Amino acid sequence: MIGTDFDTHERSRWAGRAEAYERSFGRLCAYPAEELLDAAAVRTGQRVLDVGTGPGTVAAAALTRGAEVTAVDAEPSMLGAARRNAPGAQVRQAVLPRLPFPAGGFDAAVANFVLNHVSETVTAAGVTTPADLPRLATDRDFPRTEAGLAGLLAAAGLTDVRCVTVAWKHRTDPENWWAGPANGISTIGLLLERQPAAARERLRREYDRLSAPYRDTDGTLHLPTAALLACGRAD
Ligand SMILES: C[S@@+](CC[C@H](N)C(=O)[O-])C[C@H]1O[C@@H](n2cnc3c(N)ncnc32)[C@H](O)[C@@H]1O
Repeated sequence: MIGTDFDTHERSRWAGRAEAYERSFGRLCAYPAEELLDAAAVRTGQRVLDVGTGPGTVAAAALTRGAEVTAVDAEPSMLGAARRNAPGAQVRQAVLPRLPFPAGGFDAAVANFVLNHVSETVTAAGVTTPADLPRLATDRDFPRTEAGLAGLLAAAGLTDVRCVTVAWKHRTDPENWWAGPANGISTIGLLLERQPAAARERLRREYDRLSAPYRDTDGTLHLPTAALLACGRAD
């Protein structure tokens, strides 16, 4: 077994879910791809590793820049999607925290959205997070702030660390957005999966109510979104 109970649990939430992910969260996660590649100074001829590639969004963008791309993910259904979306990349299964590459084998390594978590809909619907979920050990956790993520990279030995907040409005169809949790993706998906029918209906109602202010006249959601983007140098 590689990694902690938390890692194993997190990986299990992606199993067989590439299609639902591409339809829902994947579209949101695509937004900062170019900024991430800029931060890593990815350009023609560079050897780039995309870790946790999912459906290969960042890998495909790096290929478009003329990079030589290797893309890895733990989840087989994601690898299939990555091969489809990033033909030309070397796509293979590999599981963090141990990757089967020698040190110095890449000019840049990128990872887009490794961590993402729960929303306020859960509290409004009177549902509690399952107590048996594995928690991240305090010494492996970090504050979800620019300083917190920068500190994590610095503690891992990277130098010239920078972290910025990238903010945007995510435009999505409400059903596509709901498809992520409804198909069991991530902790919010597990939480939904565990609820009896009545609680699932309450959660759906709260989702509709809380997201209503963000709907356009044509029904499209415009969700204010922010992500931390950090980079550093491995000497
Ligand atoms: C939020 S998705 C991000 C996917 C992609 N980077 C993107 O921008 O759409 C997280 C990805 O990390 C992968 N993942 C989770 N735990 C992993 C691990 N321990 N090793 C490798 N990949 C992992 C999941 O299978 C999933 O594809």
